[in-house]
Amino acid sequence: MAVLPIIRMGHPTLRRAADPVPDPTAPEVRRLAADMIDTVLAADGVGLAAPQVDRSVRVIVLDIPAERLREEDGEPAEAQGPEVLVNPVLEPLDGPERGAVGWEACLSIPGLVGAVPRWERLRFAGVDLDGREIVGEAHGFHARVLQHEVDHLDGILYPQRMTDLSLLMFADELERQAEAESVEGDI
Ligand code: NI
Repeated sequence: MAVLPIIRMGHPTLRRAADPVPDPTAPEVRRLAADMIDTVLAADGVGLAAPQVDRSVRVIVLDIPAERLREEDGEPAEAQGPEVLVNPVLEPLDGPERGAVGWEACLSIPGLVGAVPRWERLRFAGVDLDGREIVGEAHGFHARVLQHEVDHLDGILYPQRMTDLSLLMFADELERQAEAESVEGDI
């Protein structure tokens, strides 16, 4: 188990489609997934895709604390992880339009955040490290993280999904604005 270096926007591995994993039960896949979990925990992230550690294969890990889901969705929720999904596939449940806009950050684009339209609800499918089929439904922030990570497997970073690039910001500027607004709101 090891914390792996995370590559950043501009690296060619982040721009290409990753290869399907022929055998999700292979020991090297288990090793990669364990290292990815170590890496996402060390980086305090909520998700990581294998291309971000320069491995062009279709593996993602999610680790979303329950309090983060509550914060984002404003409703009680159970923690989602750490969870490994091999060869994940997503299917929207609310039509082809990506109608839910929310803030996202990416460990491969440090310091920035952007407002990204995503599907609100989706069905996901994939395989775990024992080769078992996993299927489920996700909504809100869980669905957003799944879409963000699966996009990595297709060589897509969140700014490419944005429809208003004026909402691509430095995270500390957004925080400063939010603080200013909450002060205004208190007066
Ligand atoms: Ni990312």
